[in-house]
Amino acid sequence: MSHLFPTYHRYPIEIDTGQDWQLTDNHGQTYLDFTSGIGVCNFGYHNALIQANVQSQLNKVWHTSNLYQNQLQEIVANSLTAGTDKLTFFCNSGTEANEAAIKLARKYTGKSQIIAFTNGFHGRTYGALSVTDNPPIKTGFGPFVPNMTFAPYNDSTALPLITSETAAVILEVIQGEGGVILGNRSWLQQVQTQCQTTDTLLIIDEVQTGMGRTGHLFAYQQFDLDPDIITLAKALANGIPVGAMLGRAQFQSAFGPGSHGSTFGGNLLAMAAAEGVLAQLTPDFLKQVHLKGQHFLAALQTQLASLSTVTKIQGMGLMIGIQLSETVMADIVVRRLQQQGLLTLTAKHNTLRLLPPLITPEAVLMDSIPIIKASLEAQYESVTG
Ligand SMILES: Cc1ncc(COP(=O)(O)O)c(C=O)c1O
Repeated sequence: MSHLFPTYHRYPIEIDTGQDWQLTDNHGQTYLDFTSGIGVCNFGYHNALIQANVQSQLNKVWHTSNLYQNQLQEIVANSLTAGTDKLTFFCNSGTEANEAAIKLARKYTGKSQIIAFTNGFHGRTYGALSVTDNPPIKTGFGPFVPNMTFAPYNDSTALPLITSETAAVILEVIQGEGGVILGNRSWLQQVQTQCQTTDTLLIIDEVQTGMGRTGHLFAYQQFDLDPDIITLAKALANGIPVGAMLGRAQFQSAFGPGSHGSTFGGNLLAMAAAEGVLAQLTPDFLKQVHLKGQHFLAALQTQLASLSTVTKIQGMGLMIGIQLSETVMADIVVRRLQQQGLLTLTAKHNTLRLLPPLITPEAVLMDSIPIIKASLEAQYESVTG
């Protein structure tokens, strides 16, 4: 009998070791990993620099609290905000980064209404869950934080809902858990303009899309946006828990000493890992991710789009969603791919989601396509739950 709450629907695989873009289970079976631990281990599982940084910090000291000066936090914050007018608050997860963003926006503006969008996902603590539009994960947990309003994503009828009463708008430029749904460029820009006109802060949740996933440090850069607040977590420290909220320096009066905090936020091991991550997210590396992603997406579209099981393939960089028809359940495809040695993810709207480590070579990405194709063409009756 398990002594864990059954909050996770776990596959019958236990990972024992990790290599670059491969994982090996406790029976010695090796898998090609197109999950990155849900968009976390972008540099794979054995990155020399990240490992050396963490090991060296482990040998010095791994936790001191936020009572003392912290040069590593300064270094990481400086890299994250270089060339911008932003300051950083460190926490431990994506949901906490969004909590910090909502609190900062409310306190700085003196307003309370937050506008979020249909099909968006921002986390599972009360503030973040209150701006998440996913009924199955909200059922039974209400009442939620008041004055959170939902507006339709990628829809111009959302614009007039943003008024001078609104403290902030929170959105993903690509909805990840929502099925890898790309925001429409001109709509996103109109949302930003409406925010500027109404003195509303624009919070962009880059928890899944940030840190190079789309071939840019932040996905919003590809949409020519200038958010007031950015939230990060997942890949920031390649698997050591961390989150961050970046906000304009002018907001600092609302986040003065004692106003917000976290015992573990900006932990030294996480900062050591994040320093190693940021050192490797060079313009050249990001360009390679962008190109690999373009080639992989185009090849997937060419080779899979005609299948009756596929309705749409979209994505950016190495964040790709293959939306499936009702004739096949994405979770069944994930299980079949596991049997073929390929680990993948699902997302809403019956989507097969691919988030390979950013270091995966293009040839390895391309070699996976026949495996995915065969699984989409297979007879699913033979797959058991
Ligand atoms: C866009 C987005 N925001 C927030 C979160 C929540 O992050 P965490 O699970 O670290 O709390 C996620 C997690 O999937 C996410 O995809």
